[in-house]
This record gives sequence, structure tokens and C-alpha cells, in this order.
Amino acid sequence: MSRILTGIQSTGIPHLGNLLSVIFPAIQLANSSDYTSFLFIADLHSLTVVKNAELLKEYTYQVLATWLACGLDADRAIFYRQSDVPQTTELSWYLSCFYPYHRLKLAHSFKEKKNYIKEINTGLFTYPMLMAADILLYDAEKILVGKDQLQHMEITRDIAKRFNSKIGEVFVVPEPMINKNMMYIPGIDGNKMSKSKGNIINLFAKEKELYQQIMNIRTNNLSLEESKNPETDLIYTFYKFFASEYQIIEMEKNYLSGGYGYRNAKQALYELLLHRFKHEREKFNEFIQKKVLLNKILSLGAERASQIATITLQRVRKALGISILENSWRDGRVV
Ligand code: TRP
Repeated sequence: MSRILTGIQSTGIPHLGNLLSVIFPAIQLANSSDYTSFLFIADLHSLTVVKNAELLKEYTYQVLATWLACGLDADRAIFYRQSDVPQTTELSWYLSCFYPYHRLKLAHSFKEKKNYIKEINTGLFTYPMLMAADILLYDAEKILVGKDQLQHMEITRDIAKRFNSKIGEVFVVPEPMINKNMMYIPGIDGNKMSKSKGNIINLFAKEKELYQQIMNIRTNNLSLEESKNPETDLIYTFYKFFASEYQIIEMEKNYLSGGYGYRNAKQALYELLLHRFKHEREKFNEFIQKKVLLNKILSLGAERASQIATITLQRVRKALGISILENSWRDGRVV
């Protein structure tokens, strides 16, 4: 069975962009039986920005509760927390010895982060090496990612190929898988939706906060009476993702006819989201309380993921000529 993999950072409750581009499609694939799914919480990646232990832990629970609330059947996937598989960091080191420094310097996401993150640590720079390890450790074939991760995927493919050609066929070269309809999810200011840009919609926020996020969606300043172009408006863009065909046509009419203000449209979007995600919002609030269950899912996932990781890592170490004494150590013999 083909292996599909994706990870989400734990820097807070996943936002609407994460849900549409990764979580919903991944759940659909995981709940079908055509793939073995590896789904994980990238808390080691989050450590590049989150430096508070309690917060990092809480974010992990929030991410897991989100997946469950959105309908993931945890038994059908290998769902784990990245830091529970320390083999990842070992592999990441090996990989970094196969990727040229001058190429890593060209990564867009790092250059972009340098613009708005004040303290740039080394982890932010080597982030793509850890991501490559996440993927190559499980011989994953298809990687579900948002469009912004395509360069990281190219880096991963490049490392796998370099390694294979220098050392021998050790790694599966993975392919990105992009959900075509949802390639680009704008934030409430029209830029890409991202927590660090403060422009997200958090579907699981309390009603008041969600309302505020919707009310902050950027619009132009046409008056209530004027006719408006739905195609260039952000509220309508979000509305279209979730509304029925009938609702979309009605909304279009409202925009074009005039006498319908952006505030009305925002109110309609807010009500639509509350209605459409009523079940998920309730489930999230239930799951986030059930720490015993969440811990159980994480520890089962850690065990299953580790078993696979250990096998891959043995293959890699052997190919590199590292830890050749390992078997004798295991047997308890002194060499
Ligand atoms: N970098 C990804 C993001 O921010 C998260 C991630 C980490 C990931 N490791 C991964 C995604 C491996 C896919 C595969 O969205």
C-alpha cells in the first residue's frame, strides 16, 4: 500500500488554511483504505519559535484535538508527535551532511522568516533538513503539503537523490501532493494565511473571537448602496468555500444589486461557519478535555512510528558505515 505523509506544526490551533489545504484532504485519504497514512505533529519544528514548555504541550493537544474533531479515525493512521521519534533528529544530521550549504541558503521560507522573526536561530535555518528526515524516515511516497512547502519538498527530493547516488539506493524519492482546489488560502488581509502574520481564521476559537476575525476581513470602502464585485472580494472568497450552490448564487446577487454592505456579508459568513462547523467545534471542545485519551493516542502512535523509523535508520547507518558495533552492543558482548 502506498504511503502518504503529512505534518502540521504545533504553534496553536490549526487555522482555516491548514484545515483546507492539509487536514481535510489528509483525513479523507487516511479514512479510505488505499493508503497507509503517517500524520504527525511537528513539535520539533515548532520549537524554532515556541520556547515555553507548557505552551508547546498545550499546542500539541490542540493540534491532535483538531484532527479528531475533523473526523480522523486515529486507528486508521499512524498518528504521532515528531519528538516521540528521536530517530528523526539523528537522520536529520546524516542528511545535512549531504546537502550543500550554499543551496540551503537559498530557501525562500528562511529568507522570508528573516524578515519578521527577530531572533533567527540555527534551527530555523536547518528546518528543511528536519523536514526531509520526517519524510525519508518512513519511506513515504506522497507528501500532502500546501503550496508554500513545495520548495522544501524539492530540497527533500534533492537530498534523497544525492544520498542514493553517492551511497546507494537507500531512500524512496517522495512526490508532493497538492490539493488543487485549495492551492492558495488567503488570510483576512489578503496575504497567505499564516499564524505569524496574524491574519488567520481560527474555526475553533470562541464565538466572540471568531466573530472578530471575520469582522476584520479586509474589504475596499464601497458604501452600502453601491454594487460590489464578488470576484475580487475576500469575504465572498471564504463564503464560496463553504456555501451551497444556492447560497453562492444568492450572495452573488446581493453583491451585484447594491444595498448589501460588507458588514452584512461578514455576518452571513460568520453564521455560515458556525452552522457548517457546529459539530467540529463541539467535538474539539470535548476532545481537548480528554487528556488521557489524547495521551493514549500519542503513545500508541509513537510506538508504531518508532518501529518503522528504527528499521529505516538501521539501513541508513549500515549504508554510511556508522554504528557497525551496534549488534554486539545489543548482545551485551564487549568488543
Ligand atoms: N513545514 C510544514 C509546514 O509548516 C510542516 C512539516 C514539517 C511537514 N515536516 C513535514 C509537512 C513533513 C509535510 C511533511 O506546513
